[in-house]
Amino acid sequence: MEVDVVLRVGIIGTGNMGADHARTLAGSVARVDVVAVTDVATERAEEVARELPGDVRVMSDAYALIQDADVDGVIITSHDSTHRDYVLGCVAAGKPVMCEKPLAPTVAECEEVVAAEQAAGGGLISLGFMRRFDPGYVEMKEAIATGTIGAPLRITGVSRGVASYPGTTSESSVVNSAIHELDVIPWLLQSPITAVNWQAPRASGLIEEGLQDPQLILLRTSDGVLTSVDVFLNDRYGYDVRCEVLGEQGAISLVEPVRTVSDLALARSTRYPADWRLRFADAYRRELQAWVDAVLAQAPTPLATAADGLTAARAAEAVITSMHEDGRWVEVGR
Ligand SMILES: NC(=O)c1ccc[n+]([C@@H]2O[C@H](COP(=O)([O-])OP(=O)(O)OC[C@H]3O[C@@H](n4cnc5c(N)ncnc54)[C@H](O)[C@@H]3O)[C@@H](O)[C@H]2O)c1
Repeated sequence: MEVDVVLRVGIIGTGNMGADHARTLAGSVARVDVVAVTDVATERAEEVARELPGDVRVMSDAYALIQDADVDGVIITSHDSTHRDYVLGCVAAGKPVMCEKPLAPTVAECEEVVAAEQAAGGGLISLGFMRRFDPGYVEMKEAIATGTIGAPLRITGVSRGVASYPGTTSESSVVNSAIHELDVIPWLLQSPITAVNWQAPRASGLIEEGLQDPQLILLRTSDGVLTSVDVFLNDRYGYDVRCEVLGEQGAISLVEPVRTVSDLALARSTRYPADWRLRFADAYRRELQAWVDAVLAQAPTPLATAADGLTAARAAEAVITSMHEDGRWVEVGR
């Protein structure tokens, strides 16, 4: 007789992503229970715990949550600057962990995490680069791999949001936001980024002084493809992620998933999502289910790994070097 096995998960950081993952786990992911949550803002953790089914413990110490005998796996959705410490805590405790991107804001921290995981025998860390689970990106990857559009030549990407978080800097725009592109482009092409280039027009006059927004990032991959990514975190009109791959025989593009179209006052229109949670809801659900299934089966993670996080961090650091050095081409170290 098959016994129902359930993964008992603790969540560190119950802001936008932590709360969203908690709801997705509770409502749409099989064989998992959220059993504990923590946040430096305790009231946020309490609010999320109240929303969830069952008896969810609100813990005041993230390390106590990591070490708790009733927590089988940990999800880290706290601020980027906390990822290194909490992931290292999970590795030390031998707990599987799904950490939101980025693995850590700097290459040095990522290297430290990768080395610690290797020293512990490997296989504990999964990283939340959810675009790898978005049905649109998956279909594009298949089309490229099977040669449907011929050999790829150019990728044109757009990554825009309504308004950036307070405290966003030109550098954190790369490490926190453009990092998705730095992971998904080499993943789509199965070809590593070899060189990057950063350019910018004048900054939008509607945002905090000092933040360079928009930014234009160019990526060369070892297959000879040139990618441009237009990053604008304060577009004011909607969350907008686009990607077109142009090949020798055709092109393939993401289509914004929409459910309805309005016809009104001589115009036809669709709506933009306000942020990433609705746009990538399906990707988050598929990613979390894949993580739960792999942990329960003690199988290698199908998510991005710590090594993938380090690779993306190296590309991000090269982009920031280009930003600081007059937009010159910068080679990406390995
Ligand atoms: N994969 C994606 O699409 C995606 C999208 C958005 C954010 N993220 C990532 O998810 C993480 C959270 O982002 P968010 O948008 O939810 O931000 P948020 O500001 O809404 O939430 C972060 C939470 O972390 C808590 N926190 C901060 N320091 C902490 C600490 N030391 N210990 C415990 N809790 C702490 C804050 O109080 C806050 O509630 C970030 O790393 C971000 O880069 C990923």
